[in-house]
Amino acid sequence: MSLSSQAAEHPRLHQLSQTNQLKALMTIIRDKNTKRGDFVFYSDRVIRLLVEEGLNYLPVNDKEVITPMGVPFQGVSFQGRICGVSIMRAGESMEQGLRDVCTSVRIGKVLIQRDERTAQPKLYYSKLPKDISDRWVLLLDPMLATGGSAMKCIEVLIEAGVKEDRILFINLICAPEGVLKMLEKFPSLHIITAEIDESMDAQKFILPGLGDFGDRYFGTE
Ligand code: PRP
Ligand code: URA
Repeated sequence: MSLSSQAAEHPRLHQLSQTNQLKALMTIIRDKNTKRGDFVFYSDRVIRLLVEEGLNYLPVNDKEVITPMGVPFQGVSFQGRICGVSIMRAGESMEQGLRDVCTSVRIGKVLIQRDERTAQPKLYYSKLPKDISDRWVLLLDPMLATGGSAMKCIEVLIEAGVKEDRILFINLICAPEGVLKMLEKFPSLHIITAEIDESMDAQKFILPGLGDFGDRYFGTE
């Protein structure tokens, strides 16, 4: 079985439903001829779908409310509080998608950059909500190649007291090797992704991928 198929069958890797809409959006952002305005617009649409899907993995408690008809309704409410953490810089592109669905959500930031020559991640900065150890964390980064950056960030979160099973990694595209390594290292982590790709090139860029997400989104190509 190929690594992509192994990843696709992993019980803690949740791929968005492969609808025609999602495929069309992903085709636009993967196209090298797509201009920056469209790249941002259509990436934002996929990010919104990913954030909505991520929220489905948060636990809920039973809750009864009374409707305006005076009738009790047996519903649910979210169990705990959440926050976002973005891996700078590309992860910052996902913050608005989270804010759009979770009003006044707290967002921590961790600056991790891959060395362009070795592809090794380096941690430069982190600023997290003080009570992060009591929260569920939606960890935001659109690209997962070797998994090095995301794994480093999870180590920072765990050091800050976050429980591994309360981390939901929200991601647009992943390479199978990286994502499988990450799921092995963190056995209670959940990953929500739009598409699982085939492989990586010698510079550890995802194939077929979409190139450098941060450069295309922020216009620094
Ligand atoms: C990109 C991307 C991830 C990382 C993925 O960031 O946003 O953080 O690479 O690669 P990995 O899984 O091999 O670690 P990059 O360091 O290029 O910085 P950027 O966010 O400024 O584009
Ligand atoms: N970072 C990106 O933006 N793209 C890749 O393909 C790999 C890492």
